[in-house]
Amino acid sequence: MKKVQINFDIEECQSLDDLTAQDKKLVEKAKEATKSAYAPYSKFHVGAALLLENGEIITGTNQENSAYPSGLCAERVALFYANSKYPDVAVKTLAVCAFYNGEFTPVPTPPCGSCRQVMLETETRFDSPIKILLFGKEKILIIPNSKSLLPLSFTGDNLI
Ligand code: THU
Repeated sequence: MKKVQINFDIEECQSLDDLTAQDKKLVEKAKEATKSAYAPYSKFHVGAALLLENGEIITGTNQENSAYPSGLCAERVALFYANSKYPDVAVKTLAVCAFYNGEFTPVPTPPCGSCRQVMLETETRFDSPIKILLFGKEKILIIPNSKSLLPLSFTGDNLI
């Protein structure tokens, strides 16, 4: 038996001013988007913003439902909309943040497992890494690609 280590590097910063102007703008769009979340049950208002290769920015918010599992996370709302409107355009960057209890959360909001799976499929589909920006008031995480967030993932290759 051998031990296999899975490692990946992420960057961490304290202020939006530490980001590039383009990344900062995307986080601002995600923050703005939280205002249109539909989250009457959790009150956790999530905003996601995608930068596409064609320069377009697409935003999404979580959409809850009284039948809880019928709702959808902000990341997937944005990704599915982008992939539906621009099926041939790669996603370059995804920014996520959440507004809860009257403030943006101090800690970054990590995407759930299902969103990670969809992010990975998008990355694989366009053969182009998606940089992920996870905003928290006290800490911002920058993850270079989606693949690292879902090690040992199930992909289309497993279906063959
Ligand atoms: N949620 C997202 O939209 N994205 C995440 O990354 C984490 C969770 C939503 C789902 C649900 O509407 C609410 O946040 C609480 O889980």
